[in-house]
Amino acid sequence: MQVSDYYPISLDEIEAKVLKKLKRNWMQKCEDVEPLDNVKEITNDFGEKIIRVDGEIPVDLPINNGDRFLFISYDQSSLTHGLHKYPAKFFPELPRWLIKRYSKDKDLVIDPFMGSATTNVEALLARRHSVGIDISPFSRFLAKVKVTPINEQELERCKKGMLRLLVNYRPEKVANEDIPTFPYRDNWFNKEIILELAYIKKCIENLDTSEDIKDFFKICFSSIIRSVSNADDNCTRTVIRKKLKKTVNPSDALRRFAEVILTNIPKMIEFSNLCPKNISVTFPEDMDARNIKYENETFDLALTSPPYANAVDYPRMHQLETYWLGFAKGSLATLKKKQVGTESVTAKKYKDLHLTGIKEADKVITRIYNKDPRRAYIAYKYLMDMETNLKEIYRVLKSNGKYVIVVGNNKIRGEVFENWKYIISMAENIGFVLENYFASEIIKHFIKVPREERIDTDWILVLTKR
Ligand SMILES: C[S@@+](CC[C@H](N)C(=O)[O-])C[C@H]1O[C@@H](n2cnc3c(N)ncnc32)[C@H](O)[C@@H]1O
Repeated sequence: MQVSDYYPISLDEIEAKVLKKLKRNWMQKCEDVEPLDNVKEITNDFGEKIIRVDGEIPVDLPINNGDRFLFISYDQSSLTHGLHKYPAKFFPELPRWLIKRYSKDKDLVIDPFMGSATTNVEALLARRHSVGIDISPFSRFLAKVKVTPINEQELERCKKGMLRLLVNYRPEKVANEDIPTFPYRDNWFNKEIILELAYIKKCIENLDTSEDIKDFFKICFSSIIRSVSNADDNCTRTVIRKKLKKTVNPSDALRRFAEVILTNIPKMIEFSNLCPKNISVTFPEDMDARNIKYENETFDLALTSPPYANAVDYPRMHQLETYWLGFAKGSLATLKKKQVGTESVTAKKYKDLHLTGIKEADKVITRIYNKDPRRAYIAYKYLMDMETNLKEIYRVLKSNGKYVIVVGNNKIRGEVFENWKYIISMAENIGFVLENYFASEIIKHFIKVPREERIDTDWILVLTKR
């Protein structure tokens, strides 16, 4: 692949830009100082009573069933939490609070749908051992980077080397074999960007340093991929929207990568300094939320936010990152099928109406079936998979251990699908006792979800194994 011109980048400009951004964020943080009395009762536009909590959630916050909370987060991009976008990610204060409330020092916590491992980062910082399960290799890689402390001096040395390499970029330094091949590559990316990304990846691989540091740089690299592709940056699907008129210019990948490493390195150092020693975090490769290969009664606490039926297609969401990081070359079909909430279902399966045995759910599934048998089967299969997960967690939890599930409702073919209520019914049938349920209002969506499918309240269910 050949391009005739390229635009050299100026490190001074990039450093000045990052500094300005860091200053702005810092000033914003000062303005946003969490009030001393950070728990207040307010009334929303519909006259509903809401308890607003700013920042840290008090461990002993009183909870009554059905309470509605508005949690204002200040930590979404603190430490390693902000290294990479991830759809439907927890805001860190939530798992931090739940972990402290329902477990103790050195306990063992599991998140069976860990996503970007917010639970594991918070468990580690709170000195709880933890396990995170996710079927996505991208998620496990991101998780590993987010919980692995690295040496400050070595990281600074690598940063200097990397910035030098970026300034010295020339397209002819990229050989054909440095460029990965994957479906529709040349539609997703402009040719100048493909060369720049291949160059960055090669520079990371050639760094003379530890694998942990290379992995950290790979996650920084991954975090810019969507923004320098031709796909919409803010959509849960990876799609090119002609109407969006997105422009990506030569040297954007080099510039963004430099910005990202300058922004993320101080956060990684801060995390590394806070990270306690002798606390284990494990991300097993061969597990699934429906098949947790641990012995009975292993865990003290389980905490998760499962996917929704018919909502985010995670493999498709991360497909460009997956290809560039080398986790897949072609079809993602196998991964898609493993997802709870998968849309990969065969016509043979959805021809007939399948029911779950949960009265309320079956009424909705029947209504969906009359409009769209395929969606009805997706919803049915989702609940059956969630039931398997509930049984697995029940088995691996110690007696009196809690399973805290954060789950929203969604709409399928215009029908409100009240996940949380169906999950409560299934959990109670298995033997869990519902200790508490309360709502967390979602004020901002970080990634656009189509209006019809938008979820605006998360329900938090606290289940106890008796
Ligand atoms: C809502 S996200 C979790 C987000 C997470 N709480 C965070 O803070 O980043 C749900 C995750 O479940 C994963 N998932 C889907 N099916 C799964 C399965 N069968 N086993 C384990 N994980 C699965 C998806 O890959 C996705 O990362």
